[in-house]
Amino acid sequence: MDQATPSVLLVDDEVGTLEIMGALLEKQGFRVTLARETREAIRLLADRPFDAVVSDVVFEGNEEGGEVLSACRSLRPEAVSILMTGHPRIENAVDAIREGAVDYLQKPVDPVLLAATIQRAVRERRISRRPEEVTFNDMVDILSNLVSQTIERVDPYTAGHGERTRRYCRFIARDLGLDQQTTERLELAAIAHDYGKIYLEDLSFLTKKGPLTPAEYKMVQRHPEVGAESLGSHPQLADVCRYVAEHHEKWDGTGYPLRLKGGQISAAGRILCVVEVFDSLTTKRSYKAPWSLDKTLDFFEAQSGRSFEPEVLDVFLRLLERHGEEWLMAPKRDLERAGVLDRASA
Ligand SMILES: [Fe+2]
Repeated sequence: MDQATPSVLLVDDEVGTLEIMGALLEKQGFRVTLARETREAIRLLADRPFDAVVSDVVFEGNEEGGEVLSACRSLRPEAVSILMTGHPRIENAVDAIREGAVDYLQKPVDPVLLAATIQRAVRERRISRRPEEVTFNDMVDILSNLVSQTIERVDPYTAGHGERTRRYCRFIARDLGLDQQTTERLELAAIAHDYGKIYLEDLSFLTKKGPLTPAEYKMVQRHPEVGAESLGSHPQLADVCRYVAEHHEKWDGTGYPLRLKGGQISAAGRILCVVEVFDSLTTKRSYKAPWSLDKTLDFFEAQSGRSFEPEVLDVFLRLLERHGEEWLMAPKRDLERAGVLDRASA
């Protein structure tokens, strides 16, 4: 496999979508082969290897995406498969993941998101199949994920929270034009933002069913400071620690622990504050059901200039218009993967 230019088989019966997406992926450095029918895709899979297969679900009114998925699994088990659909339903996403798809994206698919999804999936597949090709950056990523998984272990309902938070922060940072160094530090803070939870004296109420008592809530509220302190013995992590410490502050000064206000909170911290709340509201927790997209949007719109900085929030709301349904499905998928959520209770 050529690491620099992954080969992608793109399958869609809408010719316009197929050609535009193909051209955009090629522009981003992929070698792309197009197929308009599932039969053609299966023939191509039998014919030659691909690093990734990206397929539509519905072809001329028939749900044939599963056929591409199973052909990929049997003919090219080394390839990663990603499904795209205009009619996302959580059940479909869960089924697709169970059938071996690494992701399930809502159409119209953002080519930047698709490219990032393919790159990540191909890289993870390569790491798992060819350990001798693992780079130093791969290992840094693996260790970063282990940090977030360690945090998530004390509260299984937060499975995937760190990685999702990191991804959404990266989107906002890109749209706000944040420089690369700040973005990288923000991503590390997103991974580690709840680090302090593992140091809390009593962990049982993190998974408590029902609301916390005032005393328990006060104890949980210590986690941003505790996390920043625990990470803070390394001067190189000073910015990361600052963002971790700020992740529950609010634009209007009503957050915690320091009740920082407006520009007292760093630009990166203001991004993390928005994303942290979004992902928490839209994830099932031991004490609450996940919020719907409408309810979440209403809440965020009402919080402009209150909990959140208006400029960051505007960028985030634009991203939600595009990715909202998909970002709402993501926590359920991660909880499924972690075995926290069975379908009956979902
Ligand atoms: Fe937190």
